[in-house]
Amino acid sequence: MMLFQLIPFFLAAQVSDKETWKFGPEYTFSGEVKMITSLDSDKGQYLGTGLYLKLKCRPREPDVLRCKMDDTKITRLNVQDGFNPEKATPAANETYRPFNAIEVPFEIKFNDRGIESYVLEKSDPVLPDFCVNMARLVANQLIIGTDLSDTMKPTYRSFENFTVGECDVDFKVTRSPFKDEASKENKFDLSPLEKLGKLNGEIMLIEKKRNVKECLRCVAPFFGTRYTLGLVYRDVLSLLKTSDSKIEISKNKFLSETNNENDLYDQNRKKLGKVLDHVKLTLESIFPAKDQLPTFNSPIIKGVLPDKCDKDPNSQY
Ligand SMILES: *[C@@H]1O[C@H](CO)[C@@H](O)[C@H](O)[C@H]1NC(C)=O
Ligand SMILES: *[C@@H]1O[C@H](CO)[C@@H](O)[C@H](O)[C@H]1NC(C)=O
Repeated sequence: MMLFQLIPFFLAAQVSDKETWKFGPEYTFSGEVKMITSLDSDKGQYLGTGLYLKLKCRPREPDVLRCKMDDTKITRLNVQDGFNPEKATPAANETYRPFNAIEVPFEIKFNDRGIESYVLEKSDPVLPDFCVNMARLVANQLIIGTDLSDTMKPTYRSFENFTVGECDVDFKVTRSPFKDEASKENKFDLSPLEKLGKLNGEIMLIEKKRNVKECLRCVAPFFGTRYTLGLVYRDVLSLLKTSDSKIEISKNKFLSETNNENDLYDQNRKKLGKVLDHVKLTLESIFPAKDQLPTFNSPIIKGVLPDKCDKDPNSQY
């Protein structure tokens, strides 16, 4: 048996040494970035868009993942149950169009509380902020957040850097009996690290509620598919109302999702309606990587939060 970091400090992938892991593993996550709107201009009717992607990551020991987004495509969604992203799915005849999120590889450097920074190759022209924000939006699903190793303790409170700033987070941890959900193609084994505590053959559900009013917040909650496909016009303001995440971990499952509910306003502070932002990442497979793990020639470091940050949460409304 060999162990590789999946979420540094929290979770490892345990692989069999029957295969060769000379170049380490490659993790494939499937990702969804969905938006559901209910705007007065659509008479409150629920409409949606969904960005679908693969995130491929390789660990650079001890605390870095090198990732690349692949196969990023967006489509309109058929929304059947209001702000329920599970029930918002592409119609059978729907067409997808490619969506340029971030095409270059990026590295995520973790610390024991979450993500410390991102590293990218210096480029000319400079990579747009939009692309780095897309990397942040998806990579934020890999933040577990706080030391959960005390199995007796069901709730925690901690700070976390999230898309919208540094927020107070309430954690609730529940454990239930393990159900085998391994897929046939690739059975993988996940193994908890120190900060997660023991799994004891259980399913661990970590629910996070951010106290968004108390975030040291950035100017606008970034949501990268906001204007694509024309559901929302540019120049609107988003006010984040709630932000909740759910992470499910078991021996053969890693799933992490976030729902953010926002009110939208126009430039005259007239309310336009509501929007739900949803991001979900699910570990799909772990296979041996096929080549040497590359490094950047002239690395540049990006912070965990978007560059433009306004410390006064109410300044824009
Ligand atoms: C898809 O099918 C639905 C129902 O049959 C129809 O209303 C809609 O116009 C179709 N959309 C496209 C893009 O063809
Ligand atoms: C959030 O990021 C800022 C800036 O990088 C850092 O100073 C702060 O310690 C981080 N907070 C947490 C909880 O990681």
